[in-house]
Amino acid sequence: MGYQRVAFLLALITVVGLAVQCNAGVTSTYRRRLAASVDMPLDADVFQIPSGYNAPQQVHITQGDYDGTAVIVSWVTADAPGSNTVKYGKSKNNLHLSAEGNVRQYTFYNYTSGYIHHCLLQNLEIDSTYYYAVGENDSVRQFSFKTPPAIGPDVPYTFGLIGDLGQTYDSNSTLTHYKANDDAGALLFVGDFSYADNYPNHDNVRWDTWGRFIESSAAYQPWIWTVGNHEIDFVPSIGETVPYKPMSNRYPTPYSASGSTELFYYSVRRASAHIIVLASYTAYGKYTPQYQWLQAELKKVDRTQTPWLIVLLHSPWYNSYNYHYMEGETMRVQFEAWMVQYKVDVVFAGHVHAYERSHRISNINYNITNANCLPVPNNNAPVYITIGDGGNIEGLATNMTEPQPSYSAFREASFGHAIFDIKNRTHAYYTWHRNQDGNAVAADTMWFTNRYFNPTNDS
Ligand SMILES: *[C@@H]1O[C@H](CO)[C@@H](O)[C@H](O)[C@H]1NC(C)=O
Ligand SMILES: *[C@@H]1O[C@H](CO)[C@@H](O)[C@H](O)[C@H]1NC(C)=O
Ligand SMILES: *[C@@H]1O[C@H](CO)[C@@H](O)[C@H](O)[C@H]1NC(C)=O
Ligand SMILES: *[C@@H]1O[C@H](CO)[C@@H](O)[C@H](O)[C@H]1NC(C)=O
Ligand SMILES: *[C@@H]1O[C@H](CO)[C@@H](O)[C@H](O)[C@H]1NC(C)=O
Ligand SMILES: *[C@@H]1O[C@H](CO)[C@@H](O)[C@H](O)[C@H]1NC(C)=O
Ligand SMILES: [Fe+2]
Repeated sequence: MGYQRVAFLLALITVVGLAVQCNAGVTSTYRRRLAASVDMPLDADVFQIPSGYNAPQQVHITQGDYDGTAVIVSWVTADAPGSNTVKYGKSKNNLHLSAEGNVRQYTFYNYTSGYIHHCLLQNLEIDSTYYYAVGENDSVRQFSFKTPPAIGPDVPYTFGLIGDLGQTYDSNSTLTHYKANDDAGALLFVGDFSYADNYPNHDNVRWDTWGRFIESSAAYQPWIWTVGNHEIDFVPSIGETVPYKPMSNRYPTPYSASGSTELFYYSVRRASAHIIVLASYTAYGKYTPQYQWLQAELKKVDRTQTPWLIVLLHSPWYNSYNYHYMEGETMRVQFEAWMVQYKVDVVFAGHVHAYERSHRISNINYNITNANCLPVPNNNAPVYITIGDGGNIEGLATNMTEPQPSYSAFREASFGHAIFDIKNRTHAYYTWHRNQDGNAVAADTMWFTNRYFNPTNDS
């Protein structure tokens, strides 16, 4: 087929010197400078505090409801609580609407946060650019975002993908490359935000710098949050016994809109996609709230309205690097059969600091007394993509299991981001971009055909 030939040629061009067979896995031989990933210093340009008394900083937005007509705006003021109001409107010079949010602070060991504001903007018109302003007096700051088109099966929509971002020079390269893509309307973030927990006492100042770092993207398009292990921040040795304290105070999700009872697992619908966010570190065994919620949510998915069923989680179920190997195994055993039953198109994960894409495979036949415990090709199964290569301080995962397992289609230890570009109900074009190349270059590509409307052998 045409797309296979294109993908094959691209693989040959970008992965020089490899003998690629049509369905064999590729371990990229791309050579990059292997250097430590160094956090940007506190006085880096991307961490700059906006000027003006009590000026809003760390501005970010996320989807605020199930279907994309609401947005949660969040920001921090450093000196005083200030105003909780967001003024907004469809004309840049006339922000005639306003919504009132709330403000909170938290402490973490000897750190005290700034004043953290969250404000829900509701009943937004679809497919519209909104301008919004936060702050008071001389320190008002204005931003904008675009609401998605109405839910519908053939609505084109482009999602970005970043994981395990952190705040190093490599993180800056990843975010810069991502921002160069003008088409992406929302970012699917697969967990591990700031890596503040790598500092003494989980120095939460690094949560603030991270918030300022991502603002240049996250204030203008929703980042859909998945929780990672670096958000747990559980440190009994310094008296911090409430897990997820920084994340849950700073990064809200619209969990209740999808009937979830916890911040960390939920789902949103956007354009032609139904996105299910799972929590790798919240109980998922049978009878747990997450299990019951997912069981009910999968039944609510209407592929005739949202043909593209996308699952996000942190700890990958299929990963052939020698890092976090099989950590996602218990969740895979619990939920993989549902992914096949409901024909999920793609599962994105992070956690492993490298890139990998699988074939469509499943491993759901084992029952303790039989020996059916190997992954097998399965056209109803999702493609599994690990995109934990945002560029954090812990560096690249370079050590891979050998030989490359048959389920692994492509793997490369480089930092980068990905784009999932939905064209219509049958086709989506997926590209992965390594930071060493210009944004226009795709180092890995795949034409996805939809599992519900067009389940061809695409992987
Ligand atoms: C981060 O990247 C941007 C865009 O390339 C650049 O302007 C800025 O100087 C970079 N900051 C650091 C600390 O490298
Ligand atoms: C918190 O404590 C650490 C060491 O215990 C110290 O280095 C740091 O300056 C303190 N920070 C604040 C804000 O007091
Ligand atoms: C900012 O403006 C508000 C009214 O919008 C006023 O009540 C407040 O005193 C002003 N704050 C400063 C620091 O000027
Ligand atoms: C396990 O699988 C084997 C082979 O498919 C089958 O014969 C057996 O009945 C299964 N056992 C259970 C408990 O389902
Ligand atoms: C790669 O990982 C394997 C398995 O953990 C280990 O035996 C090996 O020493 C590692 N190789 C390098 C170069 O770190
Ligand atoms: C869907 O998009 C694909 C890829 O752009 C295109 O080849 C196909 O013709 C489209 N289908 C319809 C019904 O427009
Ligand atoms: Fe992680």
